Amino acid sequence: MSEIKTVGVVGFGVMGAAIALNAAGAGYKVIFKELNDELVATMYDRWVTKPLSKRVAKGKISQDDMDKLTGQISGTSSYADLHECDLVIEAAIEKMDLKIEVFAELSKACKKDAILVSNTSTFLIEKLMAKVENPGRTAGLHYFFPANINRLVEVIRQSETTDATYNALMEFAKKNRKVAITVKDFPGFAVNPVFIASYIVLDCFYGDKFNAASLESISQEALGLKFGIMWVQNGAGLGTCFHAGNSMVEYLRDADTGYPAMCEQLKKQFESGTPWDLEDGPVTEDAAARTLVKERLLGAIFAISTHLIEHDVVSPDDLELGIITSLAWPKGPLALMNEIGMEESARLVKVAVAAGDFKLPKKFSDNDMTPWALKG
Ligand SMILES: NC(=O)c1ccc[n+]([C@@H]2O[C@H](COP(=O)([O-])OP(=O)(O)OC[C@H]3O[C@@H](n4cnc5c(N)ncnc54)[C@H](O)[C@@H]3O)[C@@H](O)[C@H]2O)c1
Repeated sequence: MSEIKTVGVVGFGVMGAAIALNAAGAGYKVIFKELNDELVATMYDRWVTKPLSKRVAKGKISQDDMDKLTGQISGTSSYADLHECDLVIEAAIEKMDLKIEVFAELSKACKKDAILVSNTSTFLIEKLMAKVENPGRTAGLHYFFPANINRLVEVIRQSETTDATYNALMEFAKKNRKVAITVKDFPGFAVNPVFIASYIVLDCFYGDKFNAASLESISQEALGLKFGIMWVQNGAGLGTCFHAGNSMVEYLRDADTGYPAMCEQLKKQFESGTPWDLEDGPVTEDAAARTLVKERLLGAIFAISTHLIEHDVVSPDDLELGIITSLAWPKGPLALMNEIGMEESARLVKVAVAAGDFKLPKKFSDNDMTPWALKG
């Protein structure tokens, strides 16, 4: 396995372009691949030339900086041009069959020891690599939106990922000035199972009794957030939230973890084409009503977080780091459980279980009230 010098990026959309600019900024040569030559040119213009020219015009970077960056990024419509890449990051659209074919092509076109990774949000890495020769060189590298600003990267080890591949990816993330956490190949990986459960549970309360403004306020209070979970959903796009949510429900609702059922409210809001209206009326001050939502929200977050640890998806410290870094929560879910106390956390988890959102984690069926051992 050679040192990573040249990075390929398949799919130069929102994520691929930000990943490429990040890598170019860290000194890597980047070759991106798009579907055809026209898209290569328009995407380069959209994501590289125009935004960098604006930054030069505003005096944020010099023309020299821009020339250096643009000189490091080139585009192609042919897999063959990715042959010199030491690492290829796939960031094409979220369709499983398409991604499997992309990796089959990469396996044919790239060096036999080139590292191949996917930035998929929801698919198991092992499935995407089904047609790759030498799967020890495959893994997941999951960036978070917006990938040029959000510092978290989940490095996903599938069962065949070798230590050499994993170590090279950790080093790559570090050179890209990212915060990397290690995650097992699990539906949604580590951060998204927690985040998605939190918004599904919250959205299910939307209706006559709870407007979006109230749900936003309750989530801010429950988690100590400046920007609540309704606001973050609007930022991510309700379509993305709905589709990613459906994937999680499909994977986990009948698994031994359980997962909240998708709610009609999110579907309807996404189909309406408008984001949640965060100023849709007075925020409820009904303490009992607020407690009802808060307990379901925290119960769900605590339940899925405990399941992730029990399934060895992520270490307790990496889960905390991942949530704090990517979602800007002041405390991770496990520190929050320790702070609230394990007896009370167990009660909240049982609220989530009684609501049918999750199955009871072993820690609580064993009545284990030991706080989480965290470094921080
Ligand atoms: N947008 C997010 O918030 C986010 C966050 C984390 C991960 N992801 C994941 O990143 C991936 C990309 O998402 P996005 O939001 O950037 O999508 P996007 O639609 O903005 O970009 C996808 C690009 O891939 C190109 N493409 C499709 N098939 C291709 C092929 N065979 N060869 C080369 N290019 C091809 C398309 O032309 C398009 O430009 C998805 O798997 C998504 O789940 C997205």
